[in-house]
This record gives sequence, structure tokens and C-alpha cells, in this order.
Amino acid sequence: MKRIVILISGRGSNMQAIVERCAEEAWPAEVVAVLSNRPDAAGLAWAAARGIATAVVDHKAFARREDFDAAMVRAIDVHRPDLLLLAGFMRILGADAVERYAGRFLNIHPSLLPAFPGLHTHRRALEAGCQVVGATVHFVTPQLDHGPIVMQAAVPVHPGDDEHALAARVLKSEHVIYPLAVRWFCEGALELGADGRVRHRGGASQVLI
Ligand code: GAR
Repeated sequence: MKRIVILISGRGSNMQAIVERCAEEAWPAEVVAVLSNRPDAAGLAWAAARGIATAVVDHKAFARREDFDAAMVRAIDVHRPDLLLLAGFMRILGADAVERYAGRFLNIHPSLLPAFPGLHTHRRALEAGCQVVGATVHFVTPQLDHGPIVMQAAVPVHPGDDEHALAARVLKSEHVIYPLAVRWFCEGALELGADGRVRHRGGASQVLI
């Protein structure tokens, strides 16, 4: 059984999708803890109501980024994760913290990386006139939103879309690809090559269109 720890900062809908798919599809895995940097993250109550351990490491309580990182690492390691997931976690962890979980640390980002790393992805994609946007599940590396890509979903932009409409459409695809990528990791189906590319050992498509 792979022990999964999920970091959130807000609503936690990706976290919920992973918890639900894990139970429904009987993955060889268990979400053992949901941690947040924000005490008011709505996803914490959802997880706690399902008997999942929760904890808050409030970034506002730390003057220095390294101290926040160290406290977060301690809170994570209590749960001995085999896999660490960022799911709408809106703080940047430093290189030491990231490298500690190298090869067992995934993120979902709401763009077709390497396009639009960082914030306000949907607004920036609309401003750029993109006709297709999407979401990316990738291994986390110290460079923000930049690690080896596990899976991507392509999502059309519709005429008249604003960033909220687009975000909602992309989020539906996130709820498909993130659980799938996590399942693959837990089943040992992912291979991270020396070339930095991620392959599914069974040849499953790593694209959702
Ligand atoms: C999701 O769209 C996720 O891709 C994004 O925040 C949202 C969280 O929603 N993450 C990032 O922007 C990270 N750079 P959720 O809390 O409902 O899962």
C-alpha cells in the first residue's frame, strides 16, 4: 500500500477526486494525510470528515521561508509518504524540501506546460489568444511548474469564455488526469527515463483530448 500525503491551500477538489477514485477503484494506496498552509482551506474539513488525518502549517507563522519549509517537511514526514502530491498548494517549497521527495512528488498545473507556469494561467492564455489550453500532471522539481510531464489534458477555448468559464472546463479534465496519474504511480506503471521523460510501462496514452 502506497501512503499518499496531499498538500492543499483551498477547496481541494483535486484532492477529493483522488480520495474518491482511490476508494472506488481500490488502488494499492491510501491517502493518509491532507496538509495545508492555510487554516481556512475548505478541503481540510472534507478530508477530516472522511477520517483522513489533517494538519495546518500556517505560512504566516514563519518569518523565514526555510523555517516554513522545515515545519512542513516535519508535518509531511510524520505520515511517511511514498507519494507526495500538490493539489492547489499555492506556496513555493524550497529546493531542499523538493529534493527530499524527488521521484515521488507530483503536481497538477492548470496549463499545457511549459506554457504559462505560475499564476493566472487562464487569464494569460485568453490574453494570448490560445484556442486550446489544458492541464499538466508533472513530477515536482525545484524549478516551478517545470518537472517531467506524466500526463496532459487538452481543453478547447470557446468563444466568449472568461477565465472563470475556462478554469471550470479545465478543472473537469484535472479531475480525470490527476487521479489517473496517481493511480499509475501507485501501480508502479510510471517510468522516469534518464532523458527526463515519463513513460507508462504499458503504453497507455498520456494525453486526454
Ligand atoms: C487547480 O486548478 C490546480 O490546477 C491549481 O489550483 C486549482 C486548485 O483547485 N493549481 C495551481 O495553480 C498550482 N500552480 P482545487 O483546490 O479545487 O484542487
